[in-house]
Amino acid sequence: MNKYLFFLGIHPELSTAEIRAVFSADSIKYNIDKLTKKYLFISTTNKLNEVSLISRLGGTIKIAKLIDEKNNTLSLVDFLMNAQPEGKIQFSITGAGNKEPLAVKQALKNKGRSVRYVEIKNTASILHNNLIKKRGDITIIDNKAYITVAIQPIYEMSKRDFDRPGVDSFSGMLPPKLARMMINLSDAPFGSTILDAFCGSGTVLTEALAIGYHNIYGSDISKKAIEDSEANIEWYINEKNLTKIKYKLFLSDSANLADIIEKNSIQSIISEPFMGKPLHGNEHEKNLQKQAKELAQLYINSFTAFHKILRYDGTIIFIIPSFKSGNKWIKIDCIDEIKKIGFNIEPLSENSPYLRYMREDQHLARDIWKFTKNNQ
Ligand SMILES: C[S@@+](CC[C@H](N)C(=O)[O-])C[C@H]1O[C@@H](n2cnc3c(N)ncnc32)[C@H](O)[C@@H]1O
Repeated sequence: MNKYLFFLGIHPELSTAEIRAVFSADSIKYNIDKLTKKYLFISTTNKLNEVSLISRLGGTIKIAKLIDEKNNTLSLVDFLMNAQPEGKIQFSITGAGNKEPLAVKQALKNKGRSVRYVEIKNTASILHNNLIKKRGDITIIDNKAYITVAIQPIYEMSKRDFDRPGVDSFSGMLPPKLARMMINLSDAPFGSTILDAFCGSGTVLTEALAIGYHNIYGSDISKKAIEDSEANIEWYINEKNLTKIKYKLFLSDSANLADIIEKNSIQSIISEPFMGKPLHGNEHEKNLQKQAKELAQLYINSFTAFHKILRYDGTIIFIIPSFKSGNKWIKIDCIDEIKKIGFNIEPLSENSPYLRYMREDQHLARDIWKFTKNNQ
């Protein structure tokens, strides 16, 4: 049995739903041993391909593997001597206070090895000190020792984020990690056609390319958004020398998509839609209620078109925002109508039909929903 520790991002339930979806897509047999606010403990019969997994997941920061069920200094010393048989041993230990690192350091010195203890401040310092390749980054939890085997490619992700040419500072950008989680939650096979019906500057589309999708459609009502998406997709294709990419962009109101996209042709629609004017937190409840009503209509009109262009086994991952007014949440009332159009809700967690993504200082929450087509 292989035992893994996944370090989850700031939305652990969402990260876990994403891991479940990717494991199911890759037919990986696994058992969830424990889930906490920060960590997911998993057992698998087969070894995971940790590096390809981490470069696909948006919501996992680090993957570590169990090396020692009962942590003790001697076994850590043995492990590090085997992992780094020559030269100076570089290592870090998190989660065990000060004593354990000092004891390991001293024991290694007693064995005649020169040692450097690395203070880990963040994942960047693990990368900077090359501790993955050296197998030197150790985490102790519940008195068990884990070695980091893969880390999220943060430099590559921020390059996509900052270097891309088309930027939309008004509509705002979907966080790329969330875009990635949404794509993974869609269950769409890599060869299938996926669509973002509110593509903005193309975050979902470029993250889909980065994961391995090659048939991507985007549409938006704004000409500037389509131009930005095109510039960003072209930039990414050139940057990575990608071949065999088929993409199409449509300037269209999402409600009219059935007029331009073939019926039953899209495997998944993955969208963060228009969510109203940016909020400052001092809006009157009445105005927010009015906005919620308008958005409900926009989403209902969109889903009517989605039902026509989606394949019979298609899925939709869609953000429905909620607005904070004082201590109250204002919701967009559209779920019943969406069901009536012909969709089922696929709950993303055991506790709730949707999962919420929200930064602490924000007045808007993004509620992520998954729908499947009801073909009756
Ligand atoms: C929140 S942004 C999407 C941002 C995008 N996910 C990104 O990261 O770049 C919403 C987008 O919806 C578009 N939009 C607004 N109303 C629309 C409609 N009726 N049909 C299609 N697109 C619409 C806006 O032009 C905007 O680009």
